[in-house]
Amino acid sequence: MAVRSNLMWLTLALSLFDPTCSAGPVRQRAAVPDGFVAAPYYPSPYGGWEDSWKESFAKAQALVDKMTLAEKTNITGGSGIFMGKACVGNSGSAYRVGFPQLCLQDGALGVGNTDHNTAFPAGITTGATFDKDLIYARAVAMGKEFRGKGAHVFLGPSVGPLGRKPLGGRNWEGFGSDPVLQGIAAALTIKGVQEQGVIATIKHLIGNEQEMYRMYNPFQPGYSANIDDRTLHELYLWPFADGVHAGVGSVMTAYNAVNGSAASQNAYLINNLLKEELGFQGFVMSDWLSHLSGVASALAGLDMSMPGDTQIPLFGGSPWKFHLTEAVLNGSVPVDRLNDMATRIVAAWYQFGQDRDFPAVNFHSYVEGEKGLLYPGAVPASPIGKVNWFVDVQADHAQVARQVAQDAITLLKNDDDFLPLSTKSPLRVFGSDARVDPKGANSCGSRACNRGTLGMGWGSGVANYPYFDDPITAIKKRVEDVKLYDSDNFPLILNPKPTDDDVAIVFINSDAGENSFTVEGNHGDRDKDRLSAWHNGDKLVQKAAEKYKNVVVVVHTVGPLIVEPWIDLPAVKAVLFAHLPGQEAGESLANILFGDASPSGHLPYSITKKEDDFPDSISKLVKEIIGQPQDTYSEGIYIDYRWLNKQGIKPRYAFGHGLSYTTFNHTDAHIKIVNALSSPLPPARQPKPDVPVLSTEIPPASEAYEPAGFKKVWRYIYSWLSKSDADKAYAVGISGDKTGSKTYPYPAGYSTVQKSGVNVPAGGGQGGNQALFDTILQVDVTVQNTGSVHKGKASVQAYVQFPEDSGYDTPIIQLRDFAKTTELAPGNSETVTLKLRRKDLSVWDTKLQNWVAPGAEGDNGRSKRYVVWLGEASDKLFTRCFSDTLVCERGVEPPV
Ligand code: NOJ
Repeated sequence: MAVRSNLMWLTLALSLFDPTCSAGPVRQRAAVPDGFVAAPYYPSPYGGWEDSWKESFAKAQALVDKMTLAEKTNITGGSGIFMGKACVGNSGSAYRVGFPQLCLQDGALGVGNTDHNTAFPAGITTGATFDKDLIYARAVAMGKEFRGKGAHVFLGPSVGPLGRKPLGGRNWEGFGSDPVLQGIAAALTIKGVQEQGVIATIKHLIGNEQEMYRMYNPFQPGYSANIDDRTLHELYLWPFADGVHAGVGSVMTAYNAVNGSAASQNAYLINNLLKEELGFQGFVMSDWLSHLSGVASALAGLDMSMPGDTQIPLFGGSPWKFHLTEAVLNGSVPVDRLNDMATRIVAAWYQFGQDRDFPAVNFHSYVEGEKGLLYPGAVPASPIGKVNWFVDVQADHAQVARQVAQDAITLLKNDDDFLPLSTKSPLRVFGSDARVDPKGANSCGSRACNRGTLGMGWGSGVANYPYFDDPITAIKKRVEDVKLYDSDNFPLILNPKPTDDDVAIVFINSDAGENSFTVEGNHGDRDKDRLSAWHNGDKLVQKAAEKYKNVVVVVHTVGPLIVEPWIDLPAVKAVLFAHLPGQEAGESLANILFGDASPSGHLPYSITKKEDDFPDSISKLVKEIIGQPQDTYSEGIYIDYRWLNKQGIKPRYAFGHGLSYTTFNHTDAHIKIVNALSSPLPPARQPKPDVPVLSTEIPPASEAYEPAGFKKVWRYIYSWLSKSDADKAYAVGISGDKTGSKTYPYPAGYSTVQKSGVNVPAGGGQGGNQALFDTILQVDVTVQNTGSVHKGKASVQAYVQFPEDSGYDTPIIQLRDFAKTTELAPGNSETVTLKLRRKDLSVWDTKLQNWVAPGAEGDNGRSKRYVVWLGEASDKLFTRCFSDTLVCERGVEPPV
């Protein structure tokens, strides 16, 4: 029986005891600095009031009404890590009434832990395309693959981390260091995946901006991400709002704490922000093994415990399941809360049509062969059976994958139009990153090694490669005179000797991932190699530049690199960032290198000249201190280009930078008002309509009894209680006499009476007050390929500059929309449209607790002029349009 080379979960479990994540002795929580508050918010708002979900909730409620107590609690929790067929998360079922076990599966770039799937380019690569059509096309293909494998829930997209810290380990799973780029890409990904009948999961809510100390363990609290209200709304919650607006079916909480309260039981985050303000209708799950409490998390709004176990897994323990059954019977968890959890889960299943013809799970995350342990966590007591059907779900998705990989490739530098290369040039290729890992592309479980072309980072956000199209193979297909020096050390002898015609292509990379693995001394975050190329890549480039006149550097990377050691060397003619291309690393790159297509990718982050161009809160990882590590976002809304612009620091390459083989010009820009911004505040929201509710009576204890004669799987997590435990709990519940019982001290003022929502003015629909999503301004601009040789695609990025005397401190410019042309032949042009919504023109006002558009009409005595800047990078802005005079002009001095 072949076991998949995926030790992710074992290592995660072991990492609970890893000295890098645990201080050893029990530690106290350190105080969260003043001003960072996670105020209690109860009760947890019901789902089902939003129009587009009403029908699914009605069906769900009818089904949940038929469930026993133990069935309801069963579907809210996983059956245990490594337990059952055989996804990374397997919820409990209620088969008696027709509700299946749900399969929850990683990763954010393709179906993880299986075969015959596509390994798509990573999120960061997808973001670098700045192409909405491609982002959506990738999601459609991924959704089809998840469905084809029988996975109900796609554990992506990831938008948290947002990419605040360049060293952060998991930034590459998301789309780039900007909330709007993340939000647009997340919404399109959710749409594409969910249209295939698969529930998407936007994650991780919120503040998981570094890997080190992210996780609570029995000896140490995870760090607290201390985020002020405005920063939270304008940066970190922003993409979640877009995801909820797109109708996302589930949300995963983060490992860490936010403002002192663990994310999986943080009532401020889940009840207040997500369910009340953003009007989220689906279900909220914990990240794996981060579910810390039974009653507190239920009251705080958590709906699903994943993978079901306590922090120390594999002992059959759980914060919920049988405990949740007990807590409902004894009155600790109100019945309506459980009903809401179960209904939200079942409603999501209906919402995406999973009640009709959904394929059965046909793969096993931990077994490669046809047969294997049905419940690996129960070894040696697990039965063996058929677990893999090897269903090929790839179809023609390689094409989409290749297009994304290709259109993401970002040309940073191209002196004297050195690229594209002629296939006649003799090529000398350096660096192990040019070819696939000789031990096999999948030889390291969870891709936790860096050997060969880097196609993805490591951790749970990966997929197996069905094959690996490596750069050297694609180059050799086109060029006869190629030599690969397959080493990261520059050879002592160059044979043949360098000539002036030779072109040296140097491949370097930088890797990162989840801190369940340490790779070459990097604990998830890039804490050892930092922002330098791995394997002495800088030296390799420098040496090549000493020996060859013409050097092209190709970089596969999880994020920004400091390129200063070599970027200005005269021999370094061109630099391509190919990001993380997934399986399609070769042809996509060769198409760019040899000019079949012009590069059209743009940087989804800034590349600074040095790490400390950012303040410590961004450039440093929170290191171990006494007590709970505190990651305080003292830079506020100023990350990436927002910070650099404010400080007047010129990066080496700015956010959005990316060259082409051709040139583009903007002509004929027009701005128009689509909807008048008639008041600074959006129209007042309406109260939520009442929703039907199921009985709130404590159900009879018999609904929790373990069925007589049932043969349990060892360590599997069930939701039943023994008859005596159930009877005891029920007696407490109905007597209301909790003396001496294990009931929960409710927070002061706790009430089960639902709020109408009007106390949260920014709410009112999915994603918030629906007026926030109204288009206010539209800019149309014609882009022309002004070159004479190469065709190419142009990216237009729209940045907003707030009115000068807005009364709020705002970043100089902020990305608000982007568009990409189709491939334009020389001389050809295309008109693209960019839209700015009310929210894009608003600031989060912490006093009003609402979005305020400072340039709105009304007697506020202030300037009403927003400037919309259009360009191909945050530092290359060609055109500006005014929202008041509706004039657009070119050739003006940009603001940064
Ligand atoms: C760990 C990760 O943080 C999350 O992103 C992933 O989806 C789950 N656990 C499941 O593997």
